[in-house]
Amino acid sequence: RMMKREHWGSRLGFILAAAGSAVGLGNIWKFPYMAGENGGGAFLVIYLVLVFTIGISVMLAEFVIGRMSEKNAIGAFAKLKGGLWPIVGLFGVAAAFMILSFYSVVAGWTLSYMIKAVTGALSIEDPAALGDIFGSFISDTTSPLIFHAIFMALTIFVVLSGVGAGIERASKILMPALFALLIVLIVRSVTLPGGMEGVAFLLSPDFSKVTWATVSDALSQAFFSLSLGMGAMITYGSYLAKKENLPGSAGWVTLLDSAVAVLAGLLVLPAVFAFGFDPSAGPGLTFITLPAVFAQMLFGSFFAFLFFLLLAIAALTSAVSILEVVVAYFVDDRGINRKTAAVVLGFVIFLLGIPSSLSMGVMADVEILWGKNFFDLMDFVSSSLLLPIGGLLISLFVGWIVWGKAQEEIAAHNGIVPVWIGAWGLIVKFVAPLAIAFILLKGLGVF
Ligand code: PHE
Ligand code: NA
Repeated sequence: RMMKREHWGSRLGFILAAAGSAVGLGNIWKFPYMAGENGGGAFLVIYLVLVFTIGISVMLAEFVIGRMSEKNAIGAFAKLKGGLWPIVGLFGVAAAFMILSFYSVVAGWTLSYMIKAVTGALSIEDPAALGDIFGSFISDTTSPLIFHAIFMALTIFVVLSGVGAGIERASKILMPALFALLIVLIVRSVTLPGGMEGVAFLLSPDFSKVTWATVSDALSQAFFSLSLGMGAMITYGSYLAKKENLPGSAGWVTLLDSAVAVLAGLLVLPAVFAFGFDPSAGPGLTFITLPAVFAQMLFGSFFAFLFFLLLAIAALTSAVSILEVVVAYFVDDRGINRKTAAVVLGFVIFLLGIPSSLSMGVMADVEILWGKNFFDLMDFVSSSLLLPIGGLLISLFVGWIVWGKAQEEIAAHNGIVPVWIGAWGLIVKFVAPLAIAFILLKGLGVF
């Protein structure tokens, strides 16, 4: 069964799909509250430094592995080297199961909030009342599960339609829509009375509160946000034509993802300050403060709807890339057809998401391991352990195992100025592995 591997239709299609993977709940929902919990500007600076050194380099490494092998996350390592290396891909597939299971739960909340916006259920100016609405919605046993199911069904639908007709086409429509919505909403948020305080919070760093926990949070967030460390970019890279410029693509995707994170911070944090909220209020921040802003605006319900639509779109293009990691493996290496793989694996992930959803209510206090409930455990194991470890091993693989071939892969298909290839080599060989290991161990309090 030697089928020719499907390719992206155009370079723009690929960049939008990869940016679609990167830009997601991680930027718009997670980044603002992580920055809020970690002191704002200082977190932003550390985050950007990590993104533009380690992040961009690991992304290029993943693109190279993918295009060189034209294989899924596990198969790529098997084809290029074998031995124990495919375990890196196996970790990635495991991380994909975990991440998508809780990601889809949160994405489900955004779908439900689109409906709440339209019906006027969010047109309440009192943030405390909005807090109650959010709390009682997510802690409910059944309705969040219905939206989790709907979101997984949408994700499955895009993935089973294929790389070109599904993923690329959806990204080409959804990503421009996302950028347009974001601009409209930011203009409104920063012009709120008191909103500039939030801007100052994000843009003026105070390093006195920075700890190693801050740095390790920034590292996990960088990997999560750029979709790195689990083979999503290996998989997307495997559908790339040989002529494409890989460093340029990695640069664009990294830039777009960081821009959206900063913009989302500028969208959410001014609203937090305008209402005298605590910026370290955590995961509820986005779902509680923004509706309070919208409620005070002319056509507020409409803007609230637009915002949650924006979140849902961003989440969908990311979820698609996570499911694709798993599906590509079963299609390439297990001989299962794409439609069956998407439906069956998507359903398994839906089931795995159920305890995460219940962790907001009936299972909130059920400690599974290390004092964490199911949701927090999935998030911790995947984002704080598997992704950085995956990134570390991917760097070592490119830097030491296939370095010669990797350089050719880039240079032969027009790419990079020699001095940059040297810098990239230095990072994947030494800087990234050492820095990731150090930050991980420090963050875990090992020394
Ligand atoms: N990058 C996505 C986000 O920021 C999440 C994601 C993680 C997607 C890992 C793919 C792989 O929301
Ligand atoms: Na992101």
